[in-house]
Amino acid sequence: MKHIISCEQFSRSSLEELFIHTDDIRNNPGKYSNSLENKVVATLFYEPSTRTRLSFEAAILRLGGKNISTENAKEASSAIKGESIEDTVRVVQGYCDAIVMRHYDKNSATAAASVATVPIFNAGAGSGEHPTQGLLDMYTIFRHKPGIDGITVAVVGDLRYGRTVHSLVKLLTLYKNITIYGLSCEALALPQEYIDYVEEHGARYFACQTFADVPADVDVIYQTRTQLERFENAGIEIKEFIIDKNVMNRFSATTLLLHPLPRNAEIASEMDDDPRALYFEQTHNGMYIRMALLDGVMNGTKPN
Ligand code: CP
Repeated sequence: MKHIISCEQFSRSSLEELFIHTDDIRNNPGKYSNSLENKVVATLFYEPSTRTRLSFEAAILRLGGKNISTENAKEASSAIKGESIEDTVRVVQGYCDAIVMRHYDKNSATAAASVATVPIFNAGAGSGEHPTQGLLDMYTIFRHKPGIDGITVAVVGDLRYGRTVHSLVKLLTLYKNITIYGLSCEALALPQEYIDYVEEHGARYFACQTFADVPADVDVIYQTRTQLERFENAGIEIKEFIIDKNVMNRFSATTLLLHPLPRNAEIASEMDDDPRALYFEQTHNGMYIRMALLDGVMNGTKPN
């Protein structure tokens, strides 16, 4: 793969190769400490980020590469003077060997890749996709439920603007006999294009109105934050689905609780010590997944 733009690029075998590669990096960090020697990676973030930017930058440094960065590119880069994504990429690629980009436009990664001569890593594109998050979410699920085939997953919260959900549901369809429950208020329901994608790729999708509609033995609950920053209409009526001990008590002892973070009140802090809560493990897994992606794309490395 030259670029990482969408989860649609992945097959089941390429996903599982990525997991093997990620495990190898995690278990043998010294083997990879010079993988990006003499390489410079630019991280261009037009939207705020803690996890994605810092884990990508840590991944670059741990692979022996160098990093140039602009953390508030919307205002601190020449985007504020009207420079297009395409022109920015044409310029920045002259300084580096790969570009990691987060942007508020859902088509930004595709636009960047259309002119790029270096690999583009989509680090979150508006309300479209966030593929590296989807990959780390799948890796986290894989580590706890290795078969994945046959699992049931409840995606909860802002399914409309939540780009991590859009990437996750696409990746889930790479497995057999997948059932997805979508719990949200009507205003934040999963867009039809993603429901169509899920169903066309052989998975089942059920829209839910309450936690009671989600089976108690669901394998994964994937909670999300309401993406208030993307609301075009301030009058939009929303309902949030808070997860606390009382809610989680109705689910199985083996139901995993994931969240891409950052969270607001949608997962009560009393859940943090629950062994089913994996959201901080996800953030750590993200660094290793991004190391494997950088190494794989920039060096054409396959796991051994
Ligand atoms: N999950 C995620 O994308 O977090 P950040 O916005 O902090 O990068």
